[in-house]
Amino acid sequence: MNLFSRLLATGGFAAVACLGPVVAPVQAQDYPVRAITMIVPFAAGGPTDVISRIVTGHMAQTLGQSIIIENVVGAAGTTATSRAARAANDGYTLITGHMGTHAASVPLYPKLTYHPEKDFEPVSLLAGTPILILARKDFPPKDFKEFVAYVKANTEKLNAAHAGIGSVSHVSCELLNALLDVKPTGVPFNGTGPAMNALVGGQVDYMCDQIVNAVPQINGGTIKAYAIATPERNPSLPDLPTTAEAGLPAFQAQAWNAIFAPKGTPASVIAKLNAAASKALDDETVRKRLLDLGSVIPKPAERTPEALAALVKSEIAKWTPVLKQASN
Ligand code: MLT
Repeated sequence: MNLFSRLLATGGFAAVACLGPVVAPVQAQDYPVRAITMIVPFAAGGPTDVISRIVTGHMAQTLGQSIIIENVVGAAGTTATSRAARAANDGYTLITGHMGTHAASVPLYPKLTYHPEKDFEPVSLLAGTPILILARKDFPPKDFKEFVAYVKANTEKLNAAHAGIGSVSHVSCELLNALLDVKPTGVPFNGTGPAMNALVGGQVDYMCDQIVNAVPQINGGTIKAYAIATPERNPSLPDLPTTAEAGLPAFQAQAWNAIFAPKGTPASVIAKLNAAASKALDDETVRKRLLDLGSVIPKPAERTPEALAALVKSEIAKWTPVLKQASN
């Protein structure tokens, strides 16, 4: 959908002034003619940052322009997402959003200054990211069954790290804590990159996080992993049981990360960006890096802008009643 404002013959200036920024149509065949900014709404080193850097590194080759990652933190990614919604719709400012910024935030932030569906053009899904239950390496429980018993018995003494109210790590552990009927103290960070550092350092007790942030730590023995909240085990962590195997089948959680552009970005630019993202997801080196970190790479049909629009709509519909009930 092109934001194409009609310049009126008389009074057009006043009309245009109240329409807000008028963007000259971008010629797709020329796009991009300069570097592109990809806003990452969380701190460097976290899952959204890592996925963004892996995929945009290849996209930049295809597009022939550099893609500069800009980490903008705060309020579980909604600060950055609000800024991206107001950016020029010329294809030079994009954002990597996810289940938190583009779904859970809707029921959790009544005064949200953007709407995921109205203020963005979906570009492409990048990766599905199964959720893991993690703890500091000296956390006493040896397995998930003991984890459940220990957390129930000690909840008022325990804390759980997350990346802000409405972030993936917050929402998924809210779901887990509600199922276990426990209320640990939440400890917010500007992303699960810094939260993971605190977990490795033993400053926090446990966390629900996206697999891409945990595989290196688990393989390095610097944290404990109890279960993965997907129906099947993940090839990158074949020994990690599913929550169903561990006795809590009700806890199922997989997040996702995706590229969005401001509303009104020309369809021809969206198509170019979508093609570059899809080409990256078909590249062997990119695929290996994403799969080694436990990502679920979307099939071609799942990468279209239309598929992402449908995903955002369904995720908002799914999380709104769950989170409204959890916050009562
Ligand atoms: C991150 O990249 O830090 C995470 O996506 C934050 C979150 O848990 O949503």
